[in-house]
Amino acid sequence: MNILLLGPPGAGKGTQATLLCQRLQLQHLSTGDMLRQAIREKTPWGRQAASAMERGDLAGDEIVLGLVQERLASSPSGAGHLLDGFPRNLAQAKALQDCGLSIDAVVELVVAEDVLVDRISGRRVHPKSGRVYHVRLQPPAREGHDDLTCEPLVQRPDDQPRAVRERLQVYAAQTRPLTAHYRQRLPGRVVQLDGGGTPLAVHEQLLAALGRIASTADA
Ligand code: AP5
Repeated sequence: MNILLLGPPGAGKGTQATLLCQRLQLQHLSTGDMLRQAIREKTPWGRQAASAMERGDLAGDEIVLGLVQERLASSPSGAGHLLDGFPRNLAQAKALQDCGLSIDAVVELVVAEDVLVDRISGRRVHPKSGRVYHVRLQPPAREGHDDLTCEPLVQRPDDQPRAVRERLQVYAAQTRPLTAHYRQRLPGRVVQLDGGGTPLAVHEQLLAALGRIASTADA
């Protein structure tokens, strides 16, 4: 099964992707994580993407498509994928269609904007693994440190208020139209879910929604 997870910054895509990939044995394809890794490793793509990302803009389509193609080529054959943060605009959706990866389900997480801002401002990450915490809502066992490695947690540069405002605008203008696009292209396979509950409650709703989509598709 290939699943596409949509939702604005802070909606919980990364959190849900981690839970779902463990549960359904899917490959997690997060273009945000891939870009941050490219920036850390100072690759040519990472250097090109860095300033746009820090401002809260999208990285260039060519860079993102290059990273996605590399990742898909190295995935085990027959593996299912969870696409988190890709596609992000209609041009990327078209490119995904052209590369032949069929999408079985599209889930959009819907969360109120004040909740998004609260989640993002309290988010802390472990840069190497991408593990995500929240100072109040999902705190690590030891304040400011990763649970597994005990290394320090950091705030993402694009989690500063100005970049967050830009990311929310970019989402509304470029990414939200994808829901209507997929409703038209994949009727019966697109659901909107309330992402405002606890991570486990949202996970259970997500599993139930995927079950409904799968049973409708089999009927
Ligand atoms: P990306 O990394 O994809 O970021 P995003 O879409 O802005 O989403 P976030 O990572 O901010 O949030 P999330 O929905 O994953 O929430 P999370 O689970 O972390 O992209 C970053 C940038 O990379 C983009 O701005 C762009 O520049 C570039 N980029 C990426 N993909 C691109 C593409 N395809 N094309 C071009 N450019 C691209 O949760 C957030 C916080 O809330 C955490 O602290 C978490 O602990 C907490 N939390 C999560 N769920 C819950 C819950 N249910 N209850 C309480 N707290 C919760």
